[in-house]
Amino acid sequence: MRFGIIGAGPIGTIISKKLVKNGHDVKIADAREIERLEGKEIAGIPVSVEDVITNIDVLIISIPLHVMPSIRNIVDKAGEEIIIVDTSNYYPFRDNKIEEIENGMVESVWVSNQLGRPIIKAFSNLLAYTLENKGTPEGTSGRIAMTIAGNDLSQKHIIMDLVNELGFDAVDSGSLTDSWRQQPGTPAYCTELTKEELTKALKKADAEKATFLRDKVIEKFSAGLSHKDIVNLNRETYNS
Ligand SMILES: NC(=O)c1ccc[n+]([C@@H]2O[C@H](COP(=O)([O-])OP(=O)(O)OC[C@H]3O[C@@H](n4cnc5c(N)ncnc54)[C@H](OP(=O)(O)O)[C@@H]3O)[C@@H](O)[C@H]2O)c1
Repeated sequence: MRFGIIGAGPIGTIISKKLVKNGHDVKIADAREIERLEGKEIAGIPVSVEDVITNIDVLIISIPLHVMPSIRNIVDKAGEEIIIVDTSNYYPFRDNKIEEIENGMVESVWVSNQLGRPIIKAFSNLLAYTLENKGTPEGTSGRIAMTIAGNDLSQKHIIMDLVNELGFDAVDSGSLTDSWRQQPGTPAYCTELTKEELTKALKKADAEKATFLRDKVIEKFSAGLSHKDIVNLNRETYNS
């Protein structure tokens, strides 16, 4: 398939490398200027953000959530047939407080509104390290699973198949409205679960507690934590 990626942070670059490795055509852009791609470990062809939306089947947007409004003009020009995938999560300390989300709007619904388009929410509940290093072939015992949410079933299934191809089981986490169950602060968020465990974790999500638990992890977070420490911290906190 032909992919465009906007955003060359850890998630965007890891996805670019995995896609190229699997034989897909990839173009990758920075949301601001192409020069910002210099020195980054990207795979595929570096292009300007204006060029990233041409001749592609899927556009993957991997930028901080608060930056979404700045790429609306680009997304407006993307053909209707292009599947738009968003990897973002909301953190008020980074994204500034967004009133609608603070008042309970589901993050992916807010993103979809800002972009003026339906989206598929994927690659959002695995840490960058997990995405890069912990993919395994289909059928592997203990294979880690990823949540995929979206309103268009055929688009969602295309992205679920892609996730499977890239090394992870895919769990259909429902519509965008349902996707609060995978947001930061919930048991499904960055806890490295199998398909069965992730399905149960989505059911366990508690909307009342999620933001409090999300912020509790941020308070406890420190630079010295290993990847394993972070997964354990998430598991302990989000299941408390
Ligand atoms: N990292 C993870 O483990 C992880 C896991 C799951 C989901 N996510 C989500 O995926 C998205 C991408 O995260 P990430 O950690 O890969 O990278 P990131 O640090 O959010 O950066 C992604 C891209 O956005 C650009 N960017 C940053 N600030 C910008 C601004 N004000 N205007 C325009 N572009 C800007 C960055 O450019 P520069 O490099 O030039 O600043 C980079 O190309 C985020 O929404 C994040 O919440 C992250």
